[in-house]
Amino acid sequence: MNVNEKLREYAQMTEEALGKYIPSTDCPQKSVIEAARYSLSAGGKRLRPALVMEFCRVCGGEPETALPVACAIEMMHTFSLIHDDLPCMDNDDLRRGKPSCHKAFGEATALLAGDALAIMPFEIIAKAGMEQTIEPVYALKIIQLLAQLAGFEGMIGGQTLDLEYENKQPSVSEILEMYRMKTGALLEFCCKAGCIAAGADESKQDAAGKFGRSIGLAFQITDDILDITADEKTLGKPIGSDKENGKYTYVSAVGIDEARERVRQLTAEAKEFLTEFSETEFLNELANMLAERSN
Ligand code: IPE
Ligand code: IPE
Ligand code: MG
Ligand code: MG
Ligand code: MG
Repeated sequence: MNVNEKLREYAQMTEEALGKYIPSTDCPQKSVIEAARYSLSAGGKRLRPALVMEFCRVCGGEPETALPVACAIEMMHTFSLIHDDLPCMDNDDLRRGKPSCHKAFGEATALLAGDALAIMPFEIIAKAGMEQTIEPVYALKIIQLLAQLAGFEGMIGGQTLDLEYENKQPSVSEILEMYRMKTGALLEFCCKAGCIAAGADESKQDAAGKFGRSIGLAFQITDDILDITADEKTLGKPIGSDKENGKYTYVSAVGIDEARERVRQLTAEAKEFLTEFSETEFLNELANMLAERSN
């Protein structure tokens, strides 16, 4: 098994389905639809959909069963990126190698495209429940979990702390709690939701959630390292954004070497949680790959 090939396969499934959920139209409000399509189709690693479908698979389900959830989380994530780039937040002009949504479509349209991408996920998962491609009670559980982990206790809460801490020096534990919320929560969602879609028991859901939280922390620390060490072309977003915005990151607090060591530790911890599952070669290799990523 080649981890990149498998990732590409999941990405292809996701991109095809996303294109169908938001087809190009010629209606009067097409600007907002085109803006959403623009950001969604701009590429990106499609890590979150892969986690959803793979956890469904390792719990004995078909990856296709979880495809609506995979698309839903990619929309929610894309919403978070569109808003994260706005001038009132990180004010970044480049995303996924292209002008940020507000640069291409204007701030108001970008705001609204983000709003739509935060709402559509619930419609999509509800529909999968109503059509019973996902057991209705599982669909409800996934909807609840998404609202919880994207909301005040999760991504939105974390993004709020991120802004509160600008030009301040939060402690290491405050930084890590902010990372758990702004980035870890959606990754926790992906892993757990894949299990729920497959009808897995609580102990599997729990182990998957812990895996997601650990790789989530590692992922954000790596993101902060790359904000310093990467080049813009490879990363597809501006370099030095954190410094420019007065963000005191984990790297600012402990330095790059210790941050890299922490990524290795968190990755090793994450992989421990995979012992709850079988056929975890892809997930193990994916965790390794994320720790070494250059974009
Ligand atoms: C970027 O996420 C935002 C963070 C949570 C660090 P990704 O690095 O997964 O972005 P894409 O989806 O590949 O563009
Ligand atoms: C990402 O943090 C958090 C989100 C939930 C979008 P960053 O602000 O560091 O993400 P990038 O570097 O802009 O992708
Ligand atoms: Mg940000
Ligand atoms: Mg940002
Ligand atoms: Mg960043």
